Amino acid sequence: MSELEDKIAQARQEIEKASNIVVLTGAGISAESGVPTFRGQEGLWQNFRPEELATPDAFWNDPKLVWEWYDWRRNAVKDAKPNPGHYALAELESSVPHLTLVTQNIDGLHQMAGSTNITEMHGNIWQIRCTKCGEIEQNFQVPLPELPPKCKKCGELGRPNVVWFGEMIGMDLIDKILRAIEECQVMLIIGTSGIVEPAASMGLVAKQTNKTVIEINLDETPSAGLYDIVIREKSGEVLPVLFTSNPNRVLS
Ligand code: OAD
Ligand code: ZN
Repeated sequence: MSELEDKIAQARQEIEKASNIVVLTGAGISAESGVPTFRGQEGLWQNFRPEELATPDAFWNDPKLVWEWYDWRRNAVKDAKPNPGHYALAELESSVPHLTLVTQNIDGLHQMAGSTNITEMHGNIWQIRCTKCGEIEQNFQVPLPELPPKCKKCGELGRPNVVWFGEMIGMDLIDKILRAIEECQVMLIIGTSGIVEPAASMGLVAKQTNKTVIEINLDETPSAGLYDIVIREKSGEVLPVLFTSNPNRVLS
């Protein structure tokens, strides 16, 4: 058996034993759908890095520039379809008693693939939130006719309904994720560079409470040494192999 086959067999065994699984995904899971990741070469936009644009300061300095970037990202996501990795996770959800899918992605591809128990940590790119009255508008127009967009209710400046660097993620949401990790037996960490908090620490929380952590990511990540099984392959290729329907799964 090759080293990879061995790891896949081990991972399958852990997943099959588990009745409660937490999955954390990042941009890598959507890479095979053609959605640019943040930190790859292709992730750069007109020489700006996400850290320079995805901040409240950048927005208030130049709302149009930040909206141009979001308009570009909405365009990049618009025609994307889920890939076999997204579908495999949706299938896994239907075969495990409890599965919580936590995603840092704002592209909506997990929903499209059929996953239902989804926690979007960083918001959703198809929503515009008013900076004054807080009204949230679902908007799928690409490109947007006016940048920056205005609130339909009060006419004030709209912003993407996403979480930026320097902004807090709601404590309720964090609590919900920590509780899910506490209750799971296995955590899967897929396609995330593991450097943006608080998502980056979720795997460590799982390890501190003795969960089995399995990472699937193309490149090295900072905390991989602490995880139980690390598979350096494309998620769209590995996940379908990991979760093919298994008649031996014991449902509780
Ligand atoms: P990154 O772009 O930082 O990392 C994507 C990871 O996926 C990298 O480690 C790649 O090696 C890996 N990868 C690429 N293609 C893959 C594939 N086909 N299969 C498996 N792995 C693959 O994206 P995130 O970690 O999601 O936050 O970034 C985290 C956050 O930083 C984002 O949610 C965003 C960003 O700034 C906000 O906007 C708040
Ligand atoms: Zn408003």
